[in-house]
Amino acid sequence: MADHNNKFKGVGLTYDDILLKVQYSDIDPSKVNVETRITKNIRLKVPILSAAMDTVTESKMAIALALEGGLGVIHRNMSPQQQAAEVRNVKRFESGFVENPLTLSLSKTLADARVINKKYSGIPITDDGSANGKLVGLLTSKDYYFDDPDEHLIKDYMTPFKDLVIDYEGITLDDANKRLKESKKGMVLLINNDTEQRLMSLVCRKDLEKNYLYPNACKDKNKRLRVAAAVGPSDLEVRSALLIQAKVDALVIDTAHGYTKNVLDCIKLLKDNYPDTEVIAGNVATPEGVKGLIDAGADAIKVGIGPGAICTTRVIAGVGVPQATAVFDCVRSAGDVPIIADGGIKYSGDIAKAIGLGACAVMIGSLFAGTDEAPGETYITEDHRVFKSYRGMGSIGAMQSGSADRYFQKVSGSKMSQKLVPEGIEGMVPAIGPLKDHVYQLIGGLRQAMGYCGAINIKKFQEKTVFIRSTTGSALKESHPRVPLVKRAPNYPMDDNQI
Ligand code: XMP
Repeated sequence: MADHNNKFKGVGLTYDDILLKVQYSDIDPSKVNVETRITKNIRLKVPILSAAMDTVTESKMAIALALEGGLGVIHRNMSPQQQAAEVRNVKRFESGFVENPLTLSLSKTLADARVINKKYSGIPITDDGSANGKLVGLLTSKDYYFDDPDEHLIKDYMTPFKDLVIDYEGITLDDANKRLKESKKGMVLLINNDTEQRLMSLVCRKDLEKNYLYPNACKDKNKRLRVAAAVGPSDLEVRSALLIQAKVDALVIDTAHGYTKNVLDCIKLLKDNYPDTEVIAGNVATPEGVKGLIDAGADAIKVGIGPGAICTTRVIAGVGVPQATAVFDCVRSAGDVPIIADGGIKYSGDIAKAIGLGACAVMIGSLFAGTDEAPGETYITEDHRVFKSYRGMGSIGAMQSGSADRYFQKVSGSKMSQKLVPEGIEGMVPAIGPLKDHVYQLIGGLRQAMGYCGAINIKKFQEKTVFIRSTTGSALKESHPRVPLVKRAPNYPMDDNQI
């Protein structure tokens, strides 16, 4: 019950209202460990998730972020089938064992092979063309450079079975990789037995090389990249079944208000039907909300109501909790259930503050929407500046594409946009190039913070951090540069300079 004599509860602080207190340190920032755990079974090498938004995360973003050690959450403004295909793209991208590889049959031509040759260094050939058919040969990319590929049949150019590097299903990934190295060939093909010779999976040299290039990659136990996907309460059953079939690593119940009967029922349903699936639920911003989601069975909780760069919930509905306070209050009531701080990250320093407040990781939208890997449209202005679109999932455009139920709204009829009450805007952000460089800067800022606070890892950082309230406008002004920028800095946007 509300206490009518005390309607004003607590203080609301944002990331801009606090600063980490500097402490004695003998820590070299380049040596700190930023690894974190976001559920019982999922560890990330960098504490960052990309937002489940249709201008932020599809498979391209999820792959790029997982390679850097984070985790992408595929948005749900697409059919369940398309979303499952996006998940499969990620799981296939860099595999230990590639199960169900793309294959062709003997009767196909080199022209058919060319269609898929850009992506794969070799195409296994099976008697019937199916992924688990009888293996009869391998067509490699050097085999199909002809002017008239339609005229040439694969069977005349492929390496025959007897000359392939073969092993058997059940071999460990380490042993398969050893064979790959010893053989000096591009691929080891695994079959079920010598009699049937059914193709079971394969191991690729390219993947082995990628393992050296991306030592931080976030992978499952089969060495496939990890990926999460958003589900909503209204289309839960078909969507989650397809995503689980596609081997998604975590389902994220993605709503604007997580402390609702709908979401609590959803968590229970998922946990009853798929006890092995990790369920991240949200969003909440209060200890009561956290407790509700934990009691329902959530493995991790997403915190943030209204801090996002494109959000208007706080001004349209007048609802929300400033993000630093929300994260801190929620962490304190979550026990050992991880809290993900979702939204409001403007600079790397905000990541350090969120983690220092106790979040296991942050979720990022606006800072990633301008990267090459984000799916948003690109715009070039008259003065030749390049932008990419970034819109809230509660904007009219996004809600018309499917996310209306995230905001408890329904879309029907042709005049539907007049009936929707948006809680987000449609905007754009400067294009900023590859995600990799950007993650490097964001994590670089976190490392520096850990150095300033004398913490070698996230756990120590969270134990040690003390904050100073800096709620005067002049403190914030003092924090930002106060001379005109003449050169672009990789971690401070030109547009933020107030001079
Ligand atoms: P940033 O600040 O990283 O925030 O851009 C991304 C997060 O914002 C949330 N989100 C919304 N919140 N209206 C809202 O109130 C919206 O239209 C909207 N779209 C996304 C979401 O939690 C995301 O991760």
